[in-house]
Amino acid sequence: MAILINNAAQILTMCNNFTLISEGSILIEGETIRELGSISKKGKKIDIIDAQGCVVTPGLVDSHTHLVFAGSREEEFSARIAGVRYETITKKGGGIMTTVRHTRNATEEELYNSAMSRIKNLIKHGTTTVEVKSGYGLTTDGELKILRVIKRLQETSPIDVIPTLLIHTIPPRIKRRDYIDQINSELIPQVASEKLAQFCDIFCDSIAFSVRESHKVLKKARDLGLKLKIHADELSNSGGAALAAEVGCTSADHLIYTTKLEIEKMKKANVVPVLLPGTSLFLRTRKKPDVRCFIKMELPIAIASDFNPGTCPIYAMPKIISLASLLYGIPVERALVGATANAARALDLYPKVGCIQPGAQADLVVWAVDNYKKISYQFGEDIIKLVLKRGKIIYDTNC
Ligand code: NIG
Ligand code: FE
Repeated sequence: MAILINNAAQILTMCNNFTLISEGSILIEGETIRELGSISKKGKKIDIIDAQGCVVTPGLVDSHTHLVFAGSREEEFSARIAGVRYETITKKGGGIMTTVRHTRNATEEELYNSAMSRIKNLIKHGTTTVEVKSGYGLTTDGELKILRVIKRLQETSPIDVIPTLLIHTIPPRIKRRDYIDQINSELIPQVASEKLAQFCDIFCDSIAFSVRESHKVLKKARDLGLKLKIHADELSNSGGAALAAEVGCTSADHLIYTTKLEIEKMKKANVVPVLLPGTSLFLRTRKKPDVRCFIKMELPIAIASDFNPGTCPIYAMPKIISLASLLYGIPVERALVGATANAARALDLYPKVGCIQPGAQADLVVWAVDNYKKISYQFGEDIIKLVLKRGKIIYDTNC
């Protein structure tokens, strides 16, 4: 049976860029969008969803999360508010290692259950595609355990889950070189042969891997058929954005300290910049990414949550959309493109995902507001009415 989303006040199609249709309808057949605009209902067997007075956007795409983990880090949060730096906590064996210890002690079942309940929550906030990274195992078995949980989420979750192997940090009591050899000779080949991840990501920064080490790992992953991402320039200028351009990463994420020259390199190499304003909020970082330069050079800015227990416990993408404007000064329209079309680009899914046009996947959010600017403005309110994934309603505030 076909579905007609009827008579929306505004439809943001996000085809190529910010585009808006006033007073329009969307016809869905099966999993796919068939027609757009003013649609005649005559003679069709159709389920009608009344969208009068509502805004319709593509389903939100969160292209950067670490949502499989155990435990929480409120003690470190309090310490940071009292003035202790994130880097200092990390150097004392906390930070990522705190979550690694909790995650190693958790069973696959426990990790699956907690991650699935997070996914159910993020659906209520409009996310219809989510990338999920490993990275809290730090041994071959530990990372494989998390990737198997992600695979199970992928098979059972109502939304699309994109799996990423994250090479996160160097655990204690192993030499850097030995750890990297182990990653390249054991972990990446096994992940590639079992097809447990689509992307390989690495944390290239002062407290984790150097450019040389990151280069070695990303090259191996690329040779074995994985697509690439990188955590670059989050805590310092790590050289990670330039490396992303050199090795052909699909996206480079964080980019707080990235320079104009490096942005130019990213542009030439078609690397999608993913900005994570929730992390800036929680780390209370004064320095902000050079948004003006990204816009001037016409890079397709994506925004994502970076949901993780240490530096960003926010998974609600509407909040992240507001923060992109509030903290980074990203125009409201660009923030919305950043959480849909450009986020899909960061996962290599555009235009199947991230836009509303005939042939695209019917992933949609119906918002209970009549003007898209309210999506960013109504920061404290939940304004989602309906979420559809591949043509099926997966969240309905009336039910
Ligand atoms: O993206 N930068 C590395 N990883 C996360 C933080 C992880 C943690 O602190 O647990 C991030 O900010
Ligand atoms: Fe991250």
